[in-house]
Amino acid sequence: MDYLEITGPTKLHGNVKISGAKNAALPLIAMTLLANNTVKIGNMPSVVDIKTLLKLIENLGGTFSFKDENTVEINTCCLTNTKATYEIVKTMRASILVLGPLLSRFGHCEVSLPGGCAIGQRPIDLHLKALEQMGAKITIHAGYVQAEAPDGLKGAHIIFDKITVTGTANVIMAAALAKGKTTITNAAREPEVVQLCEVLKNSGVSIEGIGTAELAIYGTDRRLVDIDPFDVIPDRIEAGTYLCAAGISDSTVTLENVRPDHLEAVTGKLEEMGFTFDITENTMTIHPTDTIKSVNIVTQEYPGFPTDMQAQFLALATQAHGTSTIEERLFENRFMHVSELQRLGADIKLSGHTATVIGPSQLSGTDVMATDLRASSAMVIAANIAEGVTQVHRIYHLDRGYENLEKKLGDLGAKIERLRE
Ligand code: UD1
Repeated sequence: MDYLEITGPTKLHGNVKISGAKNAALPLIAMTLLANNTVKIGNMPSVVDIKTLLKLIENLGGTFSFKDENTVEINTCCLTNTKATYEIVKTMRASILVLGPLLSRFGHCEVSLPGGCAIGQRPIDLHLKALEQMGAKITIHAGYVQAEAPDGLKGAHIIFDKITVTGTANVIMAAALAKGKTTITNAAREPEVVQLCEVLKNSGVSIEGIGTAELAIYGTDRRLVDIDPFDVIPDRIEAGTYLCAAGISDSTVTLENVRPDHLEAVTGKLEEMGFTFDITENTMTIHPTDTIKSVNIVTQEYPGFPTDMQAQFLALATQAHGTSTIEERLFENRFMHVSELQRLGADIKLSGHTATVIGPSQLSGTDVMATDLRASSAMVIAANIAEGVTQVHRIYHLDRGYENLEKKLGDLGAKIERLRE
């Protein structure tokens, strides 16, 4: 198993190119199940989660080929199979994204239940309830969701009790081939959902309310759509992670290929902490501050502060002067990185869903474990300013979602090496 060895403290400097967003690319790959042509997608991040979903497409009978490292062509015209098996789904929960498109295209499918997850229960009840409202008959049998709609799905009025990102994406894709109009109230407004809507709209599916919590989708009644080539939007979470890596190490770093407008909640909190920015349409430079100020954060759905940036800000708060609080509202168990940051010397107290951080703390290198994808990047950020050598183990989490992390950080001046246990 690979691990990262990081020697600190080091300052970072220079430019880093942000990759395509994993969480945008996943629904967009699932969306190719609605296409009657070969779909060319650029700015595809080269990370394990993407390969996992492409493998699932292949298992279903689709084909894909990479034109270069970040450009893939996917063809699902001749799909032969509508069963997404446990072997794949258990490795990546987002595989559930094939449920909506498979069901709307074929009128039946089977998708394994994703099972437990390190950061919380993460049920899919809202996905299933919405599809049932659209006319699907759903049964859970032997660990699989078995869904049927022999006459196709029908438009419906879906009201999500809770905002769900992949739930919204699943219903949008189901609605795209359904008969009639589907409306979604309390839809997720994440930029990744917006891109899914825009690509479908450009392909002839009429969608109103894009970017709002009220969507209306006019289905094609099972007519597959022609999807033009497009590029995946930049990864706002990867971008935010590099901003935290720069902030914690008093560094000036420029992000390239970024969408600053997708990062406003993150830059807002960094500004409260004292950092300053130079921003253009697609670049951001972060400058250090003499004193990092403490901050209070509550995670929320977009456009609020993203839960996927919570761990990285927790690492950053260890160097803020005073008491910071970070409240996690989305996932009940997303604080496993706290005990690992404590091993590095952080002063953090956990009470219910709130972490209280007292800073600044002198961090010292030691062995730590990556516990989930974003928690892993928090370890790397903290290790870069810890005195001495830190070994970050179980980095397969990182490989799921960060393209060339050690190369990008190494190019910025970090002393980081991938080694084998
Ligand atoms: C997506 C992101 C993930 C991010 C999360 C929240 C992808 C591939 N993953 O995950 O990185 O952390 O959004 O921004 O885009 N819920 C239910 N029932 C459901 C669905 C969700 O109770 O049927 C709950 C969840 O347990 C959670 C909340 O709703 O508490 C939000 O979850 P959701 O937005 O669905 O997260 P994901 O789409 O899985």
